Amino acid sequence: MLGGITVEYKSELDGGGIEFGQDFIPFLRSRGMPKQTRLFEWCAGPGFIGFSMLGHGLCETLCLADINPAAVARCRNTVRLNHLEDRVSVYESNNLRSIPKSERWNLVVSNPPHFIDQYAGDIRAHDPDWAIHKEFFNTIHSHLADNGVIILQENNRGSTVATFRQMIDDAGLEIVFTHGDHKERTHESAFYFIGIMKKGAVVPMWAADAS
Ligand SMILES: C[S@@+](CC[C@H](N)C(=O)[O-])C[C@H]1O[C@@H](n2cnc3c(N)ncnc32)[C@H](O)[C@@H]1O
Repeated sequence: MLGGITVEYKSELDGGGIEFGQDFIPFLRSRGMPKQTRLFEWCAGPGFIGFSMLGHGLCETLCLADINPAAVARCRNTVRLNHLEDRVSVYESNNLRSIPKSERWNLVVSNPPHFIDQYAGDIRAHDPDWAIHKEFFNTIHSHLADNGVIILQENNRGSTVATFRQMIDDAGLEIVFTHGDHKERTHESAFYFIGIMKKGAVVPMWAADAS
């Protein structure tokens, strides 16, 4: 149960969203984020983060997508089981390629694959040449509301904020806050958040950098 929603999954689909991914809830509450109209969980797996945010009242409606048909099937089961058909849309999609053009999100969250140089062949963990991140940054613009915020949960064992800064800038986006990151890659897993918006967007108080 996550926020009162029974989330169906198989352990091989869990990328940590049921554990450290739940940090999104206290993190966003501590920032005073108001309830968002429509939330998208990118690289959703079984939707641990998205369903939990819906259940905890942090969004009104939810959109989930993943490339893995097995994960998408679990998301659809969870929707049926919890009678959420009127509030949740689920897409099987390589990145954003099969998402309807009409989808527009106020908030995007994700615990995407975290490593460029480890776990080759594991779609939960490996992002070769950061191609999945780059494509996401380059295709998110038309789906993101003008004052929409993207929050990625990354792992300092696989990246630093600097890893993503240029790709975010090249895509017409900018980092509006970071939280919990280290300057260098760490030996142990250490998760951090990056908040991203369209360049020049008005940053809501809750998403402004505290430093
Ligand atoms: C770290 S796991 C996170 C899963 C889940 N959100 C969680 O927190 O446990 C990364 C997810 O990204 C998905 N993924 C990998 N490549 C993808 C792509 N090109 N497009 C969409 N999803 C992708 C994987 O199938 C996997 O479910």
